[in-house]
Amino acid sequence: MTAEFKDKTDRRFQIAEAALSQLDEIEDIEKLCFAVPWSYTNLEAQATGKNKLFLCASDDTGVLGYVGLTMVLDEGYIANVAVAPRARRRGIADALLFELERRTKKQLAFLTLEVRASNAPAIKLYEKHGFAVVGRRKNYYTQPQEDALLMTFFFKKDENPC
Ligand SMILES: CC(C)(COP(=O)(O)OP(=O)(O)OC[C@H]1O[C@@H](n2cnc3c(N)ncnc32)[C@H](O)[C@@H]1OP(=O)(O)O)[C@@H](O)C(=O)NCCC(=O)NCCS
Repeated sequence: MTAEFKDKTDRRFQIAEAALSQLDEIEDIEKLCFAVPWSYTNLEAQATGKNKLFLCASDDTGVLGYVGLTMVLDEGYIANVAVAPRARRRGIADALLFELERRTKKQLAFLTLEVRASNAPAIKLYEKHGFAVVGRRKNYYTQPQEDALLMTFFFKKDENPC
């Protein structure tokens, strides 16, 4: 299933489940974004694994960004979110989270993730999508060593579905 979006400058892009043919580009973006990037093997497992969802935003220039989710019963664990440096501040991450929420809201009770305590852009993004800080993991990250904030978003469920 492919969803169509427009960025902040009216340029069109698509969000669909990541194809294996996009993993090389995703691996390159991982290396640009993270001190400890996911390997190709991890990305392949995210794209093909059971109970996993890997959404990829792209246009005719290639991969713009992606978000990966693991589902355990009605719990959603966001594993990775990144947007290529060349495509930032255009609303790509906003659209990825919107699409992730749209696709999972019926089956999941919440989405949760860890984020570096100093990662202000990502924390702002998650707050914009209704995530709240629910905990802190001391020295969770390496390179550099840093605490993780745990952030969670609970889906609103109809109290009276009838
Ligand atoms: C965090 C990240 C995914 C945001 O991607 P993006 O496509 O540039 O974000 P968007 O343009 O969709 O912005 C959505 C919201 O995020 C927040 N945001 C994004 N970048 C921001 C920045 N540099 N400073 C402050 N807020 C920022 C804002 O709330 C923004 O909403 P607004 O445009 O209404 O102000 C991107 O900066 C990134 O890939 N960073 C490196 C990887 C990373 O840290 N991933 C998160 C790991 S937990």
